[in-house]
Amino acid sequence: MKIAVAGKGGVGKTLIAGAIAYFLKEKGYKVLAIDADPAPNLAITLGIPAEKAKEIKPISENKQLIEEKTSTGVPGVYKLSFTVDDIVEKYSVQSPLGVNLLVMGTIRSVGGGCTCPANALIRVLLRHLIVERGEAVVLDMEAGIEHFGRATAKHVDVMLAVADANMKALEVAKKIFELSRQAGIEKIFLLGNKIRNKVEEELLIEFSGKNGFQILGFIPYDPLVFEADMKGATPLLGGIDSPAMKALREITEKISSL
Ligand SMILES: Nc1ncnc2c1ncn2[C@@H]1O[C@H](COP(=O)(O)OP(=O)(O)OP(=O)(O)O)[C@@H](O)[C@H]1O
Ligand SMILES: [Mg+2]
Repeated sequence: MKIAVAGKGGVGKTLIAGAIAYFLKEKGYKVLAIDADPAPNLAITLGIPAEKAKEIKPISENKQLIEEKTSTGVPGVYKLSFTVDDIVEKYSVQSPLGVNLLVMGTIRSVGGGCTCPANALIRVLLRHLIVERGEAVVLDMEAGIEHFGRATAKHVDVMLAVADANMKALEVAKKIFELSRQAGIEKIFLLGNKIRNKVEEELLIEFSGKNGFQILGFIPYDPLVFEADMKGATPLLGGIDSPAMKALREITEKISSL
């Protein structure tokens, strides 16, 4: 099962990706969580202490690894084909919650014309993670799927577009739906987060009705989540029975029964 979580900045992607990864693990899946956000902090949500999280070097910044994989010995010429199956074993970090984490770092847009070796490595690695690996993979991403090659994107089983009750966040979700549909992803859902009341829920329902979105669920605004983040801690230790976590456990059930 390959699940991608995308949405506007600050809507709750990292919380949701971390919680789904954890609840899948709880259900007995072997889970690999991928942080593909330019400001990686999925480690904290997975219970890795901040000091240790800081020491994790993103793959896209690991010059030695990039060189080792892509160098041909000729300056300016690099390999496009190489093996990456060893990267997960060597560079993923085991979190206290039992989920393995791989920090990818910034992925520049494939369409952006950047053909640097770091991007070549990330693209091949993403393909490996999504197309070839057996375990459940949960990706925490900044934007949509612009960064995937087409052949990779269509292998994403579930795309979750996260939005709170905010038109800007909903417009970003709309873009994610469009791109995901174009890429051939079949299961695309809206997830409402930080929902405080029926009025907010209605806004998401109305927007979804107009745009043909299917809503997978609503996650309430939850002070325990906010407090955990204030302390640089994870709500997955301690606040596991809080309203947001209960909703996320149910959402994970729905995903695994799809
Ligand atoms: N259901 C919720 N209830 C209360 N606060 C929440 C909830 N979900 C997320 N938050 C808070 O919103 C903030 C952003 O959450 P998070 O980091 O998960 O979002 P993000 O989309 O990954 O952000 P970024 O785009 O910066 O990576 C955090 O302070 C978090 O504690
Ligand atoms: Mg994030």
